[in-house]
Amino acid sequence: MELVAALLEDHEEIRSLFDKVAAGPGPRREERFDQLREQLVRHEVAEEAIVRPLTKRYAADGERVAHARVNEESNAEAILKEMEGTEMGSARWDRLFERLHTAVLRHAAKEESVEFPRLQATVDPAELTKRGTMFATAKRLAPTHPHPMTPNSPAATMLLGPVAAVIDRARDAVAKALST
Ligand SMILES: [Fe+2]
Ligand SMILES: [Fe+2]
Repeated sequence: MELVAALLEDHEEIRSLFDKVAAGPGPRREERFDQLREQLVRHEVAEEAIVRPLTKRYAADGERVAHARVNEESNAEAILKEMEGTEMGSARWDRLFERLHTAVLRHAAKEESVEFPRLQATVDPAELTKRGTMFATAKRLAPTHPHPMTPNSPAATMLLGPVAAVIDRARDAVAKALST
């Protein structure tokens, strides 16, 4: 799939998961939040590995654009870390979730309005398709579960682990795979 199409598809999925969790208490809220967290980590780590280098190299004002997006992602990552150990549905959790929701929506909108059009304007379509395949691979490689072979069951998503470790593991695996 072409890179920007793949990125937009992810954004839609992430927005929809946010909506489901934002809808409030329900039997599957925790599972959905874990799912959201996992999608978010996979998506942002793969973007970091595949999209940002392309932006820096080819996009108009690429260094600045890539830098701004990385800052937004670090901010979302910091909020995710803050949410850890906070009871879902508590006032603090709700506040942090709202902050995360707003930050991620703004970030995705910036990618869609500033970064992706610049890539489409300067990168050859064949290259964007090749990068789309690499992006899908990077997402798959990011092991967000402690046991990558465990089926995608609710029990498995609960084992996601501390978010900092999950993100580090995902980054390492993607970097290692891309360097071989
Ligand atoms: Fe992003
Ligand atoms: Fe994105």
